[in-house]
Amino acid sequence: MNDESTPLNVFEYEELARQKLSPETWAYIAAGAEDEVTLARNRSSFERLVLRPNLLVDVERIDTSTTLLGQSVAAPILIAPMGQHAFACPDAEVATAAAASAASTIFVASLSSSRSIEEITAAAAGPVWFQMYLFFRDRGRSEVMIQRAQAAGCRAIVLTVDSPRWGRKERNMRTEDDLPWHIGNLAALPPGCYQYRDGAPATWADVEWLRTLTGLPLVIKGILTAEDAALAANHGAQAIVVSNHGGRQLDGAVASIDALAEVVAAVDGRCEVYLDGGIRRGTDVLKSLALGARAVLVGRPILWGLAVNGSQGAAEVLRLLQEELACAMALSGRPTIRSIDRKLVR
Ligand code: FNR
Repeated sequence: MNDESTPLNVFEYEELARQKLSPETWAYIAAGAEDEVTLARNRSSFERLVLRPNLLVDVERIDTSTTLLGQSVAAPILIAPMGQHAFACPDAEVATAAAASAASTIFVASLSSSRSIEEITAAAAGPVWFQMYLFFRDRGRSEVMIQRAQAAGCRAIVLTVDSPRWGRKERNMRTEDDLPWHIGNLAALPPGCYQYRDGAPATWADVEWLRTLTGLPLVIKGILTAEDAALAANHGAQAIVVSNHGGRQLDGAVASIDALAEVVAAVDGRCEVYLDGGIRRGTDVLKSLALGARAVLVGRPILWGLAVNGSQGAAEVLRLLQEELACAMALSGRPTIRSIDRKLVR
């Protein structure tokens, strides 16, 4: 791409991706559940938060680096788990893994990836975490997935708990059968397995069971209340992702950023807290960190980057967010991640 057409921000990637992708792929990626109230809230709640910068602080050197579960990243901006990257770009999650490595961050690979977990970890220079759902009546299937992820070198298991059923993403419902589902081979499952989801949603008892299967750290994704956050910590989660699945599950649910403070208070340092949903600017990352998140995950923008320019596009989306975060840290007098505190946000 020449300079003039190089996107300056994530929203420009969104527009280019919308132009490039087929209408049914666009609908699959963009959709939120039902009236998309929660999807919209994930953005509007960030816009409502006000920053209180402090000035004349020494911000000559900005350091965005941090650690997550003891693993080093260049910035607290991770790639959220999403299915079917092949819909956005032919190299699918292999391209995404390379992008995460280029940006020195962590890729959370979805159970419903288009490529196998072994291909994905082979393409990544940095840490890969494996996201799964527990929705097979035969829990042995889940055990196999964890074993494969662990053998492939994944460094954490992310259990997504907000999807006992799929939310009704109406924007996508009339066209989802037109999507090229056959091009994926699903990260840790025999082909076709994903469709066998057989209606046995997980409970806290399954979390206990899952913990006995692996020594890998457990991250619980999809928590939105203080009560569930306390339960997650009590059940041994090392981290929580405050998330409403990008507005794709329970419509009307609280925006992730509005749920963050109560979750942070409830876990009281017992586990790390991350957030996803609506992160589009470095200032959104800054606001999340100020309200107590240790990191954020980015979903749709990664697929926009992949659609526009493959692995390089996804890496550029991460680079833009990292650069915007560094700029926002300098402008608000917070030169290190540690210095980002609650007083920064009103
Ligand atoms: C998702 N998300 C998701 N989450 C998960 O745990 N497993 C998955 O397989 C998927 N798949 C998926 C596909 C697509 C197309 C999207 C857009 C989202 C949810 C994802 O991890 C994350 O929670 C949200 O995408 C974050 O919101 P933003 O950044 O997209 O606004």
